[in-house]
Amino acid sequence: MAFGIYIHWPYCTRICPYCDFNVYRNRAVDINLWRDALTQDLKWFADQTGERALTSIYFGGGTPSLMPPALVASLIEVCKELWHPSDDIEINLEANPTDAEQARFRDFRSAGINRLSLGIQSFDDKALQFLGRNHSAVEARAALDLSLRTFERTTLDLIYARPEQSLADWQQELETALETGVQHLSLYQLTVEPDTAFQKAVDRKDWALPDDPVQADFYDLTQEICDAAGKPAYEVSNHAAPGDESHHNMLYWTYQDYIGIGPGAHGRLTKGTAKEAITGTSKPGDYLAMPPDAKFETEPLHSEDQATEYLLMGLRLNSGIETGKYEQLAGKPLSQARVTQLADKGLLEHDTRRCNLTPAGRKVLNQVVLQLLSDDRPAL
Ligand SMILES: C[S@@+](CC[C@H](N)C(=O)[O-])C[C@H]1O[C@@H](n2cnc3c(N)ncnc32)[C@H](O)[C@@H]1O
Ligand code: SF4
Repeated sequence: MAFGIYIHWPYCTRICPYCDFNVYRNRAVDINLWRDALTQDLKWFADQTGERALTSIYFGGGTPSLMPPALVASLIEVCKELWHPSDDIEINLEANPTDAEQARFRDFRSAGINRLSLGIQSFDDKALQFLGRNHSAVEARAALDLSLRTFERTTLDLIYARPEQSLADWQQELETALETGVQHLSLYQLTVEPDTAFQKAVDRKDWALPDDPVQADFYDLTQEICDAAGKPAYEVSNHAAPGDESHHNMLYWTYQDYIGIGPGAHGRLTKGTAKEAITGTSKPGDYLAMPPDAKFETEPLHSEDQATEYLLMGLRLNSGIETGKYEQLAGKPLSQARVTQLADKGLLEHDTRRCNLTPAGRKVLNQVVLQLLSDDRPAL
């Protein structure tokens, strides 16, 4: 079984108006305190996991490119001492493309990072301003070029279907990204999350998201362009040629084990036949002050919860789920009547081993999962 470690760095230079992650404004942080706390947490988890082959480490945020490279190096070393790193271990770091952060790319590579995930968001200065980003389009381009020269693998994030963005604008931005030869792209439709500055702007009617049919056009155009470039979607928002998928994110979508350290990080750990959901306390001050057994909350996942989580994660993948694994987790097979109904509607495909959504099914993923889980819900 694959096994990965997520490390959350909760600080950002500026909080973007669309973001609802567990993030805080960067200020002078005591690096020694963080090193000690995160190292102690890794040791605490190692006692629980026992020996495992370590297939990925993912520094996410927040903005982990604000971490001192020496801290990144030290945490990677600790992980490699506590578990057995696989030969092709993926060690990813999320970076914002400002000039200041580019200056540290080489040090991150020396620390052991072999995949950089760049939050480009847009190649258009007006859009970057709208998104509240603290970098320009020129910096985004330069960071991407430098990352491609520095790291074995690079992935980028773009946010599309923004107000005032035309389909032609998006086509140009996406083609610009693909022309760089980047190995992997995470392409997200702009979402207005509750309790964000964007939610307030939409409530004031300052602007609105494109209507549903226009959003669907953006999505379809995205698939068309990426398919033609040989980087089809392998998950709802993630595109790469076969073999270039994110190892770490595949852990989540195939429902394997991972631990999460840092404020608010989540983990899923199998212990014998049981599986546990583990969540770290979210406020950085509390996180630093509490010992591991107090800051991490553990909840047993019953077989129904595990089966639901597996469906929700696995059906995001174009390759779908293994029906045998579902049956093992749920203690019963998927409802054959439901599967046939959804297949007849063109939303789902299946054979004796797997079940996956069609392009039409992926557009209504949550409804399909609800249908599969409940025998008495009216059909879609
Ligand atoms: C943890 S965040 C990014 C990390 C990094 N600090 C950055 O901003 O580049 C992961 C990605 O989620 C996407 N994202 C976050 N909030 C979003 C929203 N409301 N709508 C669409 N995409 C969003 C952005 O593309 C972002 O790069
Ligand atoms: S999008 Fe990235 S930089 Fe912006 S607030 Fe969220 S985590 Fe921080």
